[in-house]
Amino acid sequence: MQIIENKVEFRENLLTWYKREKRDLPWRRTSNPYYIWVSEVMLQQTRVDTVIPYYERFIAKYPTMEALAKAEENDLLKMWEGLGYYSRARNLQSGVQEVVESYGSKVPSNRKEISTLKGVGPYTAGAVLSIAFGIPEHAVDGNVMRVISRLVLIEADIAVARNKKIFEDVVMDLIDPLDPSSFNQGLMELGATICTPRPKCLLCPVRTHCSAFHEGKQEELPVKTRKVKKKFIPVASFAIKNEEGKWLLGQRPEKGLLANMWEFPMVELTDDKTPAETFKEQYGVDLTELFDIITFKHVFSHLTWEMNSFRTRLAGTEKVPEGFRFFTKEEVEALPMPVPVLKIWEELKND
Ligand code: ADE
Repeated sequence: MQIIENKVEFRENLLTWYKREKRDLPWRRTSNPYYIWVSEVMLQQTRVDTVIPYYERFIAKYPTMEALAKAEENDLLKMWEGLGYYSRARNLQSGVQEVVESYGSKVPSNRKEISTLKGVGPYTAGAVLSIAFGIPEHAVDGNVMRVISRLVLIEADIAVARNKKIFEDVVMDLIDPLDPSSFNQGLMELGATICTPRPKCLLCPVRTHCSAFHEGKQEELPVKTRKVKKKFIPVASFAIKNEEGKWLLGQRPEKGLLANMWEFPMVELTDDKTPAETFKEQYGVDLTELFDIITFKHVFSHLTWEMNSFRTRLAGTEKVPEGFRFFTKEEVEALPMPVPVLKIWEELKND
């Protein structure tokens, strides 16, 4: 690891650039810690452009922590629909409930207390503390690790969780004590716009301080070991309408992938059975003829579904798969559904 020789100049270069170039984002017009918290949770693993409309709608619907604390889970998940990683929404609500109940609706302004809140990890804690409260605390995510690894030439593997501390320590050494909000957001902004995986060093405001740039190693950093290959799972989803024109949906289990989201009956496919046979085996119910709707891939963080969707009807009228019931079109539209289910629904909803 190298050191930054002139920290004061480094901060000045970064902050001058950030203040000139920063994007006008809705959460940059507030210092309300609750709003900053919401934005930082949404921004984890989700792009800024995607987050903006979700953030605006969320804040309009839940303008206070009290409003979010008492929200219905289905409504909350509906607000998050399409953003993915839905446990983020539930954890955010739990954390906010704790603040309302145990902290008199004031977000704690020190790392120790804020870190006890559900869903608030080291990154979110540091982001809220620095951006909302102006406290010099590190907020290190993947983008910031990329920036720092190049700046001071760190070759530690960023995929190894315990190595994160190395980066946090560097940020604590460099952070601007007078404007930690702009400092941390400047690092984030640099990582998002210039110090990208393929860096644009000639546009970089801090390249004179950058060890990787000096040694021509910017493309080799950060070191990140390859993750295990994603599991590929063929699945089938069955869109079933009854005589009254209602659709059959059920809620996923409260734990695991897409917890508590709503979906059409779904099965994992195997090579040796047809979709209808697998359906019968799993739900004990016969289907009439199957018609293809669409086939597509949906990528999650650790697995990929190959989704095959079918339109069909129940062969009898008396028996309905356990845990499922029929909903009108209007009711379906109020249920929180994951993106692959929404994709199928888009094909169906107008007939
Ligand atoms: N990514 C994570 N936090 C961010 C922020 N406050 N502004 C822009 N991008 C971000």
